[in-house]
Amino acid sequence: MIDLRSDTVTLPTPQMREAMYRAEVGDDVYGEDPAINRLQEMAAERLGKEAALFVASGTMGNACAMLAHAGRGEAIIVGDESHIYRYEGGGAPMLGGCPMKVIPTEPDGMLDPLKVKLNIDDGSDEHSARTVLLCIENTHNRCGGTALSVEQVEMLTTLAHAHTMKAHMDGARVFNAAVALDIPVSELVRSVDSVMFCLSKGLSAPVGSLLVGSRDFIKRAHRARKALGGGMRQAGILAAAGIVALEQMVDRMAEDHENAQRLAHGLADFPQIDIAVERVMTNMVMFSVRNSAQESLTEADTLQFLAKTQEHGALMGTMGGGKIRAVTHYGIDAQDIAAALAAIRRALIEMRL
Ligand SMILES: Cc1ncc(COP(=O)(O)O)c(C=O)c1O
Repeated sequence: MIDLRSDTVTLPTPQMREAMYRAEVGDDVYGEDPAINRLQEMAAERLGKEAALFVASGTMGNACAMLAHAGRGEAIIVGDESHIYRYEGGGAPMLGGCPMKVIPTEPDGMLDPLKVKLNIDDGSDEHSARTVLLCIENTHNRCGGTALSVEQVEMLTTLAHAHTMKAHMDGARVFNAAVALDIPVSELVRSVDSVMFCLSKGLSAPVGSLLVGSRDFIKRAHRARKALGGGMRQAGILAAAGIVALEQMVDRMAEDHENAQRLAHGLADFPQIDIAVERVMTNMVMFSVRNSAQESLTEADTLQFLAKTQEHGALMGTMGGGKIRAVTHYGIDAQDIAAALAAIRRALIEMRL
């Protein structure tokens, strides 16, 4: 089965398994796990920030960041298509009493600075919550893995900082963005106050994410992680795989991006497939299928189409509204892409589209 549902399905590499087996570990709640300490130092250095914190998941990292930046009754600006807003169980509002101000996400994952500005509140009017944090996402998942450039990021962080707000980047796939833009990741995150990135997606480690920022911020995030039950004791077993991920799995992401291009161009050859090839910037391909009347398939027909591609050996996911997502990752090669395209062709024929 060629599993293109997500880069979260990646399995640890043999080098990761070996490093996990040999990991030197200790009680991380006492700060005594050498593998975790090393991973945190590596992450901070790589991203050009003072400190880092190992967390169980991207969701936990984003929650710790929001709790560390915003207090009760302090508002956070997010995009309507952001992972933080749509898929994290309402973390900060639920856990921290922080309202979210939601603005429309542009098709490339950007937030329109004008719309952000209109939602900034300095708290001088007691009717409204003061906005203290702006969250951006890079790469942007629901926009199809689009990468925001340094200029786009800085446009938003400059605006936030001008209003004494902080800026947090949900960089679950920030290494994909840096590889696609061909710049050091530190340059891409230079202007944000905090970044969360995941080890367990395109970097292929089994578990874990890192939250990175100033020493003072990480101290507050550490308290939030404790409150969330994220003190994981001998989790150096997991961090050991993360160290291998940072050392060995970043540069190879370029292959995933090439395979996404292959897939996108192959899909564009089918007249029934609706795809904006120019939007494919990293490891995600988003498309929809049209029927003979040139309309997008209904959600039920989309699910039937996906069941057919699965029958022929290719798994993909739906994002709702007839949108299908395919994600390339470690373990998927050019031959797999050719096989996935063949499965899609057969599904189109069998559904008489
Ligand atoms: C953009 C983005 N942020 C955060 C997360 C959350 O990561 P996790 O699944 O590790 O909680 C994801 C997961 O897919 C994501 O795509």
